[in-house]
Amino acid sequence: MKTRITELFGIQHPIIQGGMHFVGFAELASAVSNAGGLGIITGLTQKTPEALAKEIAKCHEMTDKPFGVNLTFLPTFTSPPYAEYIQAVSEGGVRIVETAGRSPDAYMPALKEAGITVIHKCTSVRHALKAEKIGCDAVSVDGFECGGHPGEDDMPNMILLPRAQEELSIPFVASGGMADGRSLVAALSLGADGINMGTRFIATREAPVHQNVKDAILQATELDTRLVMRPLRNTERVLNNAGVDRMLEIEREKGAELKIDDVFEYVARVYPRVMIDGEMDAGAWSCGMVVGLINDIPTVKELIDRTMATAEGIIQTRLGKMLAH
Ligand SMILES: Cc1cc2nc3c(=O)[nH]c(=O)nc-3n(C[C@H](O)[C@H](O)[C@H](O)COP(=O)(O)O)c2cc1C
Repeated sequence: MKTRITELFGIQHPIIQGGMHFVGFAELASAVSNAGGLGIITGLTQKTPEALAKEIAKCHEMTDKPFGVNLTFLPTFTSPPYAEYIQAVSEGGVRIVETAGRSPDAYMPALKEAGITVIHKCTSVRHALKAEKIGCDAVSVDGFECGGHPGEDDMPNMILLPRAQEELSIPFVASGGMADGRSLVAALSLGADGINMGTRFIATREAPVHQNVKDAILQATELDTRLVMRPLRNTERVLNNAGVDRMLEIEREKGAELKIDDVFEYVARVYPRVMIDGEMDAGAWSCGMVVGLINDIPTVKELIDRTMATAEGIIQTRLGKMLAH
């Protein structure tokens, strides 16, 4: 399949694996790229720019296909040394960066000088337009159903994607709720040039996370995610667990007075406890509603191949037949 996204990134299939904290290591990124998609290493999971350089080198050893690095611009006062992370990306020979969180505006000159193609992940048409204006090459549009930070507009992809198509000139991928070939065809119909998947890629053989995480994804239904940190306007969609229940209780008790410190123990340093140690009740870790559509743990290649086969089947057979009359 050829779309503006496969052309832009030089990949075979219009499928991207979004950056995921403590999931997006070289093992997963290289598996996605080797299968013809675009794998992405999560930059900030690497504690220092030097560690990121090592992870990039490792990924180069595991694939000769293009892969990217995610740089999440956090709403914090003590910023990580982003300029040095960008230097590690550029010197590591990576030419694709997925930015997310705050606008990458301040870093665009450095990224562009390094010849990097930038895809910015955002949750609204206005932010997508801003990304286009500041020179991003593509955007990843995250609907309300997504795992992670859906923003504060609560706009599902059924509306967000066609609105993005109406406004944007640059290519975009649909993100949030994408699971299979049905999602891909729907996304293409709504104007996107491909899909970005997060949660679905965690339940693959190559995802380097604790088996408990994969089992929890298999067991969960579409009713099992929760939105935390709404009162802080830093909403995150997470998989429900005892830690999240407690967090929501605190949020209800504190109401509008809630401060990040009140729930800090349920968000800070939770990822390594969940993803590495398999402590499933530790607190908030991102997970999309798409969890209700995940019922197996295939290899990344099986997942991507069947997504493409299903999509082609729907377009040529199911939809084609409807038109044949
Ligand atoms: C466990 C997990 C961790 C994530 N961490 C990040 C992150 O560090 N930076 C980022 O930009 N997005 C992050 N995301 C969001 C994904 O890249 C992607 O946009 C989202 O998962 C898409 O929705 P889906 O889960 O419905 O596929 C994370 C998602 C998950 C599930």
